[in-house]
Amino acid sequence: MLDVVTIGSTNEDILRKQAITIANIDEHIVRLSEAMLDSLEIQKGIGLAGPQVNEQIRLFVTNPPGDKRRVFINPEIIMTSNEVVPYEEGCLSVPGVWADILRPSEITIQAWDENGKPFTLDADGILARVIQHEYDHLRGRLFIDKVNEKKRERMMKSYYRKNGR
Ligand code: NI
Repeated sequence: MLDVVTIGSTNEDILRKQAITIANIDEHIVRLSEAMLDSLEIQKGIGLAGPQVNEQIRLFVTNPPGDKRRVFINPEIIMTSNEVVPYEEGCLSVPGVWADILRPSEITIQAWDENGKPFTLDADGILARVIQHEYDHLRGRLFIDKVNEKKRERMMKSYYRKNGR
């Protein structure tokens, strides 16, 4: 299982960096995405992004309930709905805290899969949600950035109480 970088750990800086475009979908990328999907299953997560496993690259994987294992390489969200909906989010990099986050209910994303094949995907529901959460990771953004300051302070206090620093 891959180690997941968490907030407060010594290598947390990578969670705040811009991920870099992948030039070649080579054996390393294929193996890494498979390992990420396996880790996701073990940790009972629904999405995992490169920076979370210490890889500063534009790659994330998803596998929410009712969907299949998906790999997104160099993704671009090209459409978001005007309608936004709340949904309770958590993150393997900020374990043990959750918050209701507002995001567009539907999105369209373009990316390459692990076979180097480009695809376009329309998503709604939990898949749209996890895609947007993981996409944010590639831009150094975390779901905790989207809650108001007071709430974030409370969340982080609870986080550090549980996880130490
Ligand atoms: Ni996350």
